[in-house]
Amino acid sequence: MKFVREKKQELADKSSLESVDLLSRFLSSGLTDENFATDIVISFILAGRDTTSAALTWFFWLLSKNPGVEEKILKEIKVKSGLPVLEEVKDMVDTHACLCDTMRLYPPVPVDGKTEEDNDVLPDGTVVKKGTIVAYHPYAIGRMVMIWGSDWAEFKPERWLQRDEGGKWSFVGRDPYTYPYPVFQAGPRVCLGNVMAFLQMKRVVSGVLRRFKVVPAVEDGFEPSFIVSLTSKMKGGFPARIEERRDLKQLIMRRD
Ligand code: HEM
Repeated sequence: MKFVREKKQELADKSSLESVDLLSRFLSSGLTDENFATDIVISFILAGRDTTSAALTWFFWLLSKNPGVEEKILKEIKVKSGLPVLEEVKDMVDTHACLCDTMRLYPPVPVDGKTEEDNDVLPDGTVVKKGTIVAYHPYAIGRMVMIWGSDWAEFKPERWLQRDEGGKWSFVGRDPYTYPYPVFQAGPRVCLGNVMAFLQMKRVVSGVLRRFKVVPAVEDGFEPSFIVSLTSKMKGGFPARIEERRDLKQLIMRRD
Protein backbone atom coordinates (compact mmCIF):
# COMPACT_ATOMS: atom_id res chain seq x y z
CA MET A 1 0.00 0.00 0.00
CA LYS A 2 2.94 2.31 0.85
CA PHE A 3 4.49 1.72 -2.59
CA VAL A 4 1.16 2.20 -4.33
CA ARG A 5 0.63 5.53 -2.51
CA GLU A 6 4.16 6.73 -3.25
CA LYS A 7 3.73 5.95 -6.92
CA LYS A 8 0.33 7.59 -7.04
CA GLN A 9 1.81 10.70 -5.46
CA GLU A 10 4.66 10.69 -7.98
CA LEU A 11 2.15 10.37 -10.79
CA ALA A 12 0.12 13.30 -9.39
CA ASP A 13 3.27 15.46 -9.13
CA LYS A 14 4.82 14.64 -12.45
CA SER A 15 1.90 13.55 -14.63
CA SER A 16 3.94 10.59 -15.87
CA LEU A 17 6.09 8.00 -14.12
CA GLU A 18 9.72 7.49 -15.04
CA SER A 19 9.73 3.91 -13.75
CA VAL A 20 8.59 1.16 -16.10
CA ASP A 21 7.73 -1.60 -13.61
CA LEU A 22 4.37 -3.35 -13.72
CA LEU A 23 2.76 -1.31 -10.93
CA SER A 24 3.74 1.95 -12.65
CA ARG A 25 2.17 0.69 -15.86
CA PHE A 26 -1.09 -0.19 -14.13
CA LEU A 27 -1.24 3.20 -12.39
CA SER A 28 -0.26 5.08 -15.54
CA SER A 29 -3.04 3.36 -17.45
CA GLY A 30 -5.62 4.91 -15.12
CA LEU A 31 -6.00 2.43 -12.24
CA THR A 32 -6.91 4.48 -9.16
CA ASP A 33 -8.30 1.99 -6.60
CA GLU A 34 -5.49 1.49 -4.05
CA ASN A 35 -6.83 -1.81 -2.71
CA PHE A 36 -7.14 -3.23 -6.20
CA ALA A 37 -3.61 -2.07 -7.11
CA THR A 38 -2.24 -3.69 -3.92
CA ASP A 39 -4.05 -6.96 -4.73
CA ILE A 40 -2.53 -6.93 -8.20
CA VAL A 41 0.96 -6.46 -6.76
CA ILE A 42 0.49 -9.32 -4.29
CA SER A 43 -0.97 -11.68 -6.88
CA PHE A 44 1.82 -10.91 -9.34
CA ILE A 45 4.48 -11.49 -6.69
CA LEU A 46 2.90 -14.82 -5.73
CA ALA A 47 1.95 -15.81 -9.26
CA GLY A 48 4.99 -14.58 -11.10
CA ARG A 49 7.92 -14.74 -8.72
CA ASP A 50 7.52 -17.64 -6.28
CA THR A 51 6.40 -20.00 -9.06
CA THR A 52 9.29 -19.50 -11.46
CA SER A 53 11.84 -19.46 -8.63
CA ALA A 54 10.42 -22.74 -7.27
CA ALA A 55 10.64 -24.32 -10.73
CA LEU A 56 14.21 -23.09 -11.22
CA THR A 57 15.35 -24.32 -7.79
CA TRP A 58 14.28 -27.87 -8.69
CA PHE A 59 15.60 -27.47 -12.23
CA PHE A 60 19.14 -26.68 -11.02
CA TRP A 61 18.95 -29.50 -8.49
CA LEU A 62 17.87 -32.06 -11.11
CA LEU A 63 20.47 -30.81 -13.55
CA SER A 64 23.23 -31.27 -10.99
CA LYS A 65 22.14 -34.90 -10.61
CA ASN A 66 21.99 -35.49 -14.37
CA PRO A 67 25.26 -34.36 -16.00
CA GLY A 68 24.23 -35.83 -19.38
CA VAL A 69 21.19 -33.54 -19.48
CA GLU A 70 23.29 -30.54 -18.43
CA GLU A 71 25.69 -31.29 -21.28
CA LYS A 72 22.81 -31.14 -23.78
CA ILE A 73 21.57 -27.83 -22.42
CA LEU A 74 25.05 -26.34 -22.56
CA LYS A 75 25.28 -27.34 -26.21
CA GLU A 76 21.97 -25.65 -26.88
CA ILE A 77 23.10 -22.48 -25.08
CA LYS A 78 26.34 -22.40 -27.07
CA VAL A 79 24.43 -22.54 -30.35
CA LYS A 80 21.81 -19.96 -29.34
CA SER A 81 23.84 -17.55 -27.25
CA GLY A 82 24.65 -15.17 -30.11
CA LEU A 83 21.00 -14.68 -31.10
CA PRO A 84 18.63 -11.87 -30.08
CA VAL A 85 16.64 -12.61 -26.93
CA LEU A 86 13.37 -13.95 -28.35
CA GLU A 87 15.09 -15.96 -31.07
CA GLU A 88 17.36 -17.44 -28.45
CA VAL A 89 14.64 -18.79 -26.21
CA LYS A 90 12.13 -19.73 -28.91
CA ASP A 91 14.15 -22.66 -30.15
CA MET A 92 15.57 -23.86 -26.84
CA VAL A 93 13.74 -27.18 -27.07
CA ASP A 94 16.03 -29.12 -24.74
CA THR A 95 15.75 -26.47 -22.04
CA HIS A 96 11.98 -26.30 -22.55
CA ALA A 97 11.70 -30.06 -22.19
CA CYS A 98 13.88 -29.98 -19.06
CA LEU A 99 11.69 -27.33 -17.47
CA CYS A 100 8.58 -29.37 -18.29
CA ASP A 101 9.95 -32.55 -16.76
CA THR A 102 11.11 -30.57 -13.72
CA MET A 103 7.60 -29.15 -13.21
CA ARG A 104 6.06 -32.57 -13.82
CA LEU A 105 7.96 -33.90 -10.79
CA TYR A 106 7.94 -30.69 -8.75
CA PRO A 107 5.00 -28.50 -9.81
CA PRO A 108 5.29 -24.92 -8.47
CA VAL A 109 1.54 -24.96 -7.68
CA PRO A 110 1.25 -28.50 -6.30
CA VAL A 111 -2.48 -28.47 -5.62
CA ASP A 112 -5.13 -26.08 -6.83
CA GLY A 113 -8.72 -25.87 -5.64
CA LYS A 114 -11.95 -23.98 -6.13
CA THR A 115 -15.17 -23.79 -4.10
CA GLU A 116 -18.43 -24.76 -5.78
CA GLU A 117 -20.69 -21.74 -6.13
CA ASP A 118 -23.73 -23.93 -6.65
CA ASN A 119 -24.84 -27.57 -6.65
CA ASP A 120 -23.23 -29.17 -9.67
CA VAL A 121 -22.63 -32.48 -11.45
CA LEU A 122 -19.17 -33.16 -12.88
CA PRO A 123 -18.86 -34.66 -16.39
CA ASP A 124 -18.27 -38.13 -14.90
CA GLY A 125 -21.54 -37.93 -12.94
CA THR A 126 -20.05 -37.02 -9.56
CA VAL A 127 -22.46 -34.82 -7.64
CA VAL A 128 -20.86 -31.88 -5.83
CA LYS A 129 -22.82 -29.71 -3.47
CA LYS A 130 -22.60 -25.94 -3.16
CA GLY A 131 -19.66 -24.96 -0.92
CA THR A 132 -17.65 -28.14 -1.61
CA ILE A 133 -13.98 -27.58 -2.35
CA VAL A 134 -12.92 -29.34 -5.53
CA ALA A 135 -9.17 -29.59 -6.06
CA TYR A 136 -6.90 -31.08 -8.67
CA HIS A 137 -3.42 -32.23 -7.88
CA PRO A 138 -0.63 -31.53 -10.40
CA TYR A 139 1.91 -33.22 -8.09
CA ALA A 140 -0.04 -36.50 -8.26
CA ILE A 141 -0.88 -36.14 -11.97
CA GLY A 142 2.82 -35.74 -12.78
CA ARG A 143 3.60 -39.03 -11.03
CA MET A 144 0.90 -41.32 -12.37
CA VAL A 145 2.07 -44.57 -13.99
CA MET A 146 -1.07 -44.51 -16.13
CA ILE A 147 0.07 -41.27 -17.82
CA TRP A 148 3.87 -41.41 -17.69
CA GLY A 149 4.63 -45.12 -17.62
CA SER A 150 6.73 -47.13 -15.23
CA ASP A 151 9.67 -44.70 -15.50
CA TRP A 152 7.60 -41.81 -14.12
CA ALA A 153 10.11 -41.25 -11.30
CA GLU A 154 12.97 -40.65 -13.73
CA PHE A 155 13.92 -37.15 -14.76
CA LYS A 156 13.69 -37.70 -18.50
CA PRO A 157 13.31 -34.52 -20.58
CA GLU A 158 13.26 -36.50 -23.82
CA ARG A 159 9.73 -37.66 -23.00
CA TRP A 160 8.75 -34.16 -24.21
CA LEU A 161 10.63 -34.33 -27.49
CA GLN A 162 10.09 -35.89 -30.88
CA ARG A 163 12.40 -36.18 -33.88
CA ASP A 164 11.24 -35.30 -37.39
CA GLU A 165 12.37 -37.07 -40.59
CA GLY A 166 15.26 -34.64 -41.01
CA GLY A 167 16.51 -35.58 -37.52
CA LYS A 168 15.51 -32.26 -35.96
CA TRP A 169 14.16 -32.43 -32.40
CA SER A 170 11.01 -30.54 -31.54
CA PHE A 171 8.82 -30.19 -28.50
CA VAL A 172 5.74 -32.43 -28.25
CA GLY A 173 2.80 -30.64 -26.72
CA ARG A 174 0.36 -33.04 -25.11
CA ASP A 175 -3.38 -32.72 -24.68
CA PRO A 176 -3.67 -29.36 -22.86
CA TYR A 177 -5.81 -30.92 -20.15
CA THR A 178 -3.23 -33.63 -19.56
CA TYR A 179 0.03 -31.67 -19.48
CA PRO A 180 1.79 -29.23 -19.31
CA TYR A 181 -1.36 -27.23 -18.67
CA PRO A 182 -2.55 -28.60 -15.32
CA VAL A 183 0.69 -27.15 -13.99
CA PHE A 184 -0.61 -23.81 -15.24
CA GLN A 185 -4.34 -24.65 -14.70
CA ALA A 186 -6.53 -25.02 -17.82
CA GLY A 187 -9.58 -23.42 -19.38
CA PRO A 188 -10.80 -19.98 -18.32
CA ARG A 189 -8.51 -19.80 -15.27
CA VAL A 190 -5.34 -20.82 -17.08
CA CYS A 191 -2.19 -19.02 -15.92
CA LEU A 192 -2.00 -15.74 -17.81
CA GLY A 193 1.78 -15.73 -17.47
CA ASN A 194 2.58 -19.21 -18.80
CA VAL A 195 4.36 -18.08 -21.96
CA MET A 196 6.14 -15.33 -20.05
CA ALA A 197 7.15 -17.89 -17.37
CA PHE A 198 8.94 -20.07 -19.94
CA LEU A 199 10.57 -17.03 -21.51
CA GLN A 200 11.86 -15.82 -18.15
CA MET A 201 13.04 -19.22 -16.99
CA LYS A 202 14.88 -19.96 -20.23
CA ARG A 203 16.61 -16.58 -20.07
CA VAL A 204 17.71 -17.24 -16.49
CA VAL A 205 18.90 -20.77 -17.32
CA SER A 206 20.84 -19.54 -20.31
CA GLY A 207 22.29 -16.54 -18.43
CA VAL A 208 23.39 -18.60 -15.42
CA LEU A 209 24.61 -21.77 -17.09
CA ARG A 210 26.49 -19.91 -19.79
CA ARG A 211 28.85 -18.61 -17.13
CA PHE A 212 28.43 -20.81 -14.09
CA LYS A 213 28.02 -24.35 -12.86
CA VAL A 214 25.58 -24.81 -9.99
CA VAL A 215 27.05 -27.42 -7.63
CA PRO A 216 25.02 -28.70 -4.64
CA ALA A 217 26.79 -27.86 -1.37
CA VAL A 218 25.32 -30.85 0.47
CA GLU A 219 26.49 -34.08 2.07
CA ASP A 220 26.57 -37.28 -0.01
CA GLY A 221 23.20 -38.95 -0.09
CA PHE A 222 21.30 -35.70 0.56
CA GLU A 223 17.73 -35.81 -0.74
CA PRO A 224 15.75 -32.56 -0.74
CA SER A 225 12.22 -32.46 0.65
CA PHE A 226 9.32 -31.02 -1.28
CA ILE A 227 7.25 -28.65 0.83
CA VAL A 228 3.65 -28.25 -0.24
CA SER A 229 2.43 -24.74 0.30
CA LEU A 230 0.49 -22.31 -1.90
CA THR A 231 3.57 -22.56 -4.06
CA SER A 232 6.03 -25.42 -3.58
CA LYS A 233 9.42 -25.04 -1.94
CA MET A 234 12.57 -27.03 -1.32
CA LYS A 235 12.90 -27.46 2.44
CA GLY A 236 15.69 -25.20 3.69
CA GLY A 237 16.37 -23.90 0.16
CA PHE A 238 18.97 -25.35 -2.19
CA PRO A 239 22.47 -24.93 -0.74
CA ALA A 240 24.70 -24.49 -3.77
CA ARG A 241 28.20 -23.44 -4.74
CA ILE A 242 28.53 -21.37 -7.90
CA GLU A 243 31.60 -22.20 -10.00
CA GLU A 244 32.71 -20.15 -12.96
CA ARG A 245 32.93 -22.10 -16.20
CA ARG A 246 36.24 -21.82 -17.95
CA ASP A 247 35.14 -23.57 -21.15
CA LEU A 248 32.36 -21.09 -21.94
CA LYS A 249 34.28 -17.99 -20.93
CA GLN A 250 35.94 -17.54 -24.31
CA LEU A 251 32.58 -17.74 -26.02
CA ILE A 252 31.16 -15.01 -23.78
CA MET A 253 34.14 -12.74 -24.29
CA ARG A 254 33.87 -13.12 -28.07
CA ARG A 255 30.17 -12.30 -27.88
CA ASP A 256 30.56 -9.31 -25.53
C1 HEM B 1 6.36 -21.79 -13.64
C2 HEM B 1 5.69 -20.70 -13.43
C3 HEM B 1 4.21 -20.60 -13.17
C4 HEM B 1 3.30 -21.55 -12.80
C5 HEM B 1 3.54 -23.04 -12.57
C6 HEM B 1 2.01 -20.89 -12.68
C7 HEM B 1 0.83 -21.53 -12.31
C8 HEM B 1 -0.40 -20.90 -12.24
C9 HEM B 1 -1.64 -21.55 -11.87
C10 HEM B 1 -1.80 -23.01 -11.51
C11 HEM B 1 -2.62 -20.61 -11.92
C12 HEM B 1 -4.12 -20.82 -11.67
C13 HEM B 1 -4.54 -20.45 -10.27
C14 HEM B 1 -6.02 -20.66 -10.15
O1 HEM B 1 -6.48 -21.80 -10.22
O2 HEM B 1 -6.75 -19.69 -10.01
C15 HEM B 1 -2.00 -19.35 -12.30
C16 HEM B 1 -2.68 -18.16 -12.44
C17 HEM B 1 -2.10 -16.98 -12.79
N1 HEM B 1 -0.77 -16.77 -13.12
FE1 HEM B 1 0.67 -18.18 -13.14
N2 HEM B 1 2.17 -19.57 -12.99
C18 HEM B 1 3.49 -19.34 -13.30
C19 HEM B 1 4.07 -18.14 -13.66
C20 HEM B 1 3.40 -16.95 -13.83
C21 HEM B 1 4.01 -15.69 -14.24
C22 HEM B 1 5.48 -15.51 -14.58
C23 HEM B 1 3.02 -14.76 -14.24
C24 HEM B 1 3.05 -13.31 -14.58
C25 HEM B 1 4.00 -12.71 -15.19
C26 HEM B 1 1.80 -15.42 -13.85
C27 HEM B 1 0.58 -14.81 -13.74
C28 HEM B 1 -0.60 -15.43 -13.39
C29 HEM B 1 -1.87 -14.73 -13.23
C30 HEM B 1 -2.10 -13.24 -13.43
C31 HEM B 1 -2.81 -15.70 -12.86
C32 HEM B 1 -4.30 -15.49 -12.56
C33 HEM B 1 -5.12 -15.82 -13.79
C34 HEM B 1 -6.62 -15.72 -13.51
O3 HEM B 1 -7.09 -16.16 -12.47
O4 HEM B 1 -7.31 -15.20 -14.36
N3 HEM B 1 2.07 -16.75 -13.61
N4 HEM B 1 -0.66 -19.56 -12.49
